Amino acid sequence: MPAWRYHDRNQRRVSPMPDMPTNSPIVAAWLEKTRGSRDLAGEAGGIFPSGVTHDSRYREPYGLYVDHAQGSRKWDVDGNEYVDFFGGHGSLILGHGNPAVVEAVRQAVGEGTHFGAGHRAEVRWGRLVCDLVPSAERVRFVSSGTEATLMCLRLARAFTGRRKILRFTHHFHGWHDHVASARVSSGGADAAGVVPGIEEDLVVVEAGDHAALREAFRAHDDIAAAIIEPTGATFCRVPVDPDFVRLLRDETERHGALLILDEVVTGFRVSPGGAQKALGITPDLTALAKILAGGLPGGAVAGRQDVMDMLDFEATRRDGRIKVDHFGTFNANPLSAAAGIAALGQIADGTVCARASATAAALRDGINRVVSEAGVSWAAYGTHSSFHIFLNPRRLDVVPGSFDGSSVSPDDLLHLPKPLATRFDLAMMLGGVTMGGTPGGYVSGVMESSEVDVTVQAVRDAIRMLRAEDAL
Ligand SMILES: Cc1ncc(COP(=O)(O)O)c(C=O)c1O
Repeated sequence: MPAWRYHDRNQRRVSPMPDMPTNSPIVAAWLEKTRGSRDLAGEAGGIFPSGVTHDSRYREPYGLYVDHAQGSRKWDVDGNEYVDFFGGHGSLILGHGNPAVVEAVRQAVGEGTHFGAGHRAEVRWGRLVCDLVPSAERVRFVSSGTEATLMCLRLARAFTGRRKILRFTHHFHGWHDHVASARVSSGGADAAGVVPGIEEDLVVVEAGDHAALREAFRAHDDIAAAIIEPTGATFCRVPVDPDFVRLLRDETERHGALLILDEVVTGFRVSPGGAQKALGITPDLTALAKILAGGLPGGAVAGRQDVMDMLDFEATRRDGRIKVDHFGTFNANPLSAAAGIAALGQIADGTVCARASATAAALRDGINRVVSEAGVSWAAYGTHSSFHIFLNPRRLDVVPGSFDGSSVSPDDLLHLPKPLATRFDLAMMLGGVTMGGTPGGYVSGVMESSEVDVTVQAVRDAIRMLRAEDAL
């Protein structure tokens, strides 16, 4: 049996990795180092589909099982330590176990975890959102980013009386029916299980294409709203020019449609007031989650009062409109509210966002130096507190230090060359670094030059290991 093949407790092969060379020393070293994760993955495979609870946590040959986390680090069940760039899927700009957040949650949990009523903390939390986010005249809390974008789209259709939603190829807004359309994520096929025909109410444009955007509004007079990730798809993995977002603001306004900024990732990260504050673009509605709730579950929709009034009992009665229903058992949950207040209070002055962005810039520079020295045609890029590593499967001519993601097609940027990408991910973990679901990740405000050094060294070692097995 090849070194890296293994079987779970039921003697089933776990994760076949059909493309992987069977003699990879990287995979063999990984299997050796993570026996505890391997056992748990074997058990999880008999409980969860693919053994995971979120598609982005799926890994070959199996995902990491984490025991505990603190600051910029996490430790797996085998005791291995990692610099953590998954960062709670982007929710942990203050790092793991931020003392003020932990203390706030500790106190809140003793006071009651659900009141089935309003409470002081939700009012303070909502006030903070209104103070920080420029477009927030009114707020409603929900439980996730997916719920936030769902509410934004529903509000937009109810407010405008129009059906269609304009959205952008590759931009991610969660997994409810309108945004799960495979026309966007997998090139034309119907998304499995999505309401048939829902795509007829979608107008899909390539972000950055000014002419196509203008044409879309000319061709469709029934667009209720446009929704966009304001720094580009997947936190600028496919960057978008701010001028395009400005054009979108103008076009939506001109055509009576609403602009929805999906700030689930960028909110409280790009700046305390999100990307909208940094870009000086005020949307009609904003979807928020992740950092909003300080690392606990939570989301929100913030926006113009007249639009948010579609949720208001009195305003809809007064205006003779049908109210948009809103339920959700855990909306503004007291623990999430406590964590959110503690987190947003620390983010408000901008220091944390600025520190995370500066560390990310140093990290991108360091990685680019290493790949340049090694003569590998990869490049690190990104903005603010993101970094992405372009593995350049088609060996395009790139200069690592001055790589501009907009100069490459989205398909090239998004294509992950397996099994190289898998082995790179494993090699980085062998070097003590976990990245996000794709090469790259979220930098937090508690990371310092030591985390940059560990990561740059891990990239150097990964390149050496990949070369040793002829993967580069
Ligand atoms: C830009 C964006 N919008 C929406 C979502 C969905 O958020 P959630 O995972 O909380 O449902 C995500 C999640 O990663 C996201 O990145």
